[in-house]
Amino acid sequence: MQTQTWAFALASVLAAAACGGDSGDVPGGGDGDGEVATLSITGTVVDFSTGEALAGSATVSTDGLSPPPTISVTGASFQIEGIPPYSNFHLLAGSPPDYRSTYSVIVETAESNQTGLEFAALSEDFVDSLYATFGVTAAAGTSLVVAKLVDDQGAALAGVKSSAFALEIGMEGPFFLDADRQPDAALTESSASGYVVVFQVVPGLVNLVAAEDAGVSLSMADSPVAARAATLAEIVVSDGAIVVPTNVSFSQDVSPIFEARGCVLCHSGAGIGKDLGGVHFNGESQKMYKELVEEISANHGTVRVDLENPANSLVLTMPSKEDPPDEHPNVTFLSNTDPDYLLILGWIQEGALNN
Ligand code: HEC
Repeated sequence: MQTQTWAFALASVLAAAACGGDSGDVPGGGDGDGEVATLSITGTVVDFSTGEALAGSATVSTDGLSPPPTISVTGASFQIEGIPPYSNFHLLAGSPPDYRSTYSVIVETAESNQTGLEFAALSEDFVDSLYATFGVTAAAGTSLVVAKLVDDQGAALAGVKSSAFALEIGMEGPFFLDADRQPDAALTESSASGYVVVFQVVPGLVNLVAAEDAGVSLSMADSPVAARAATLAEIVVSDGAIVVPTNVSFSQDVSPIFEARGCVLCHSGAGIGKDLGGVHFNGESQKMYKELVEEISANHGTVRVDLENPANSLVLTMPSKEDPPDEHPNVTFLSNTDPDYLLILGWIQEGALNN
């Protein structure tokens, strides 16, 4: 297992993150030798319409990591260091006054550093042209979402009709960009660029979902929205509805998730990590079962699954994005359509069996 080689000391990151007690735990075993195993990413902030690097100096911050990682910016280029592995987060990049601060499409990390990424910001001129072309007047305090509809291979998807979306009350749209990413008020379905625009989105988190009778499902990462910022997103369109799996086995289906999604790095007292939040995901299925279903959380006073209200289970809420954010240092599940989220949900709905 590669994780064994990661001396996941993360001294500053995790010491600061272990806010809920348990900070007195010392990593056991002999291989916690203080090596830092966080990730870095480098990239450039580019203009959404032209793809060119911004001429001015960019502002860059992250959303979804606590404590925030270290960011250095030179012109339109930046480097972010100190990201826990398997964290999914958003970048907020812009360059006022010409470029609006723009939340990026979700950045997904695993075990590797990433270089040369490009993050788009919307120019104020472009934002103005969207409102003007679609005839929308921004309601005070609201924002807009510009999302790319893609197939399961990530390719832009044309032909997704406006009737496929179930927008929340108050939202205005959907509108579509043409193949050159320019607004076209006459479009009633996505063009070859795949872009859809929704206005009057209230601050918090947004997730655009499919209408019940649309025959397709939309999977989007829960994405931040703030007044005076724009939000970019990617929406995977698939046929049929999203279903919660049934006949889920804890030992076969659920417990491998904690290794595969990196939970074990922080939730392990066995040398490579620490026991954070008092819950161990150290690979022993029976022990993990007990910690989720039987042991009472010292921080929360409940067991970590909620049979009455499965989606309210700590094992699902802590690694998910929330507004306002909970105490968890990172986000793993992109939304409640994340396949691993759905497996755990299905398992809890079936009674959180020791199967
Ligand atoms: C970067 C380190 C890190 C990773 C990765 C991580 N966690 Fe956590 N987790 C923490 C910390 C720190 C806490 C304590 C937060 C607090 O103060 O309440 C915590 C708390 C929790 C709790 C609440 C425990 C309790 O009783 O208070 C659960 C449940 C949990 N995490 C599940 C997960 C799952 C599931 C994953 C993987 C999908 C995961 N965590 C990944 C650091 C991490």
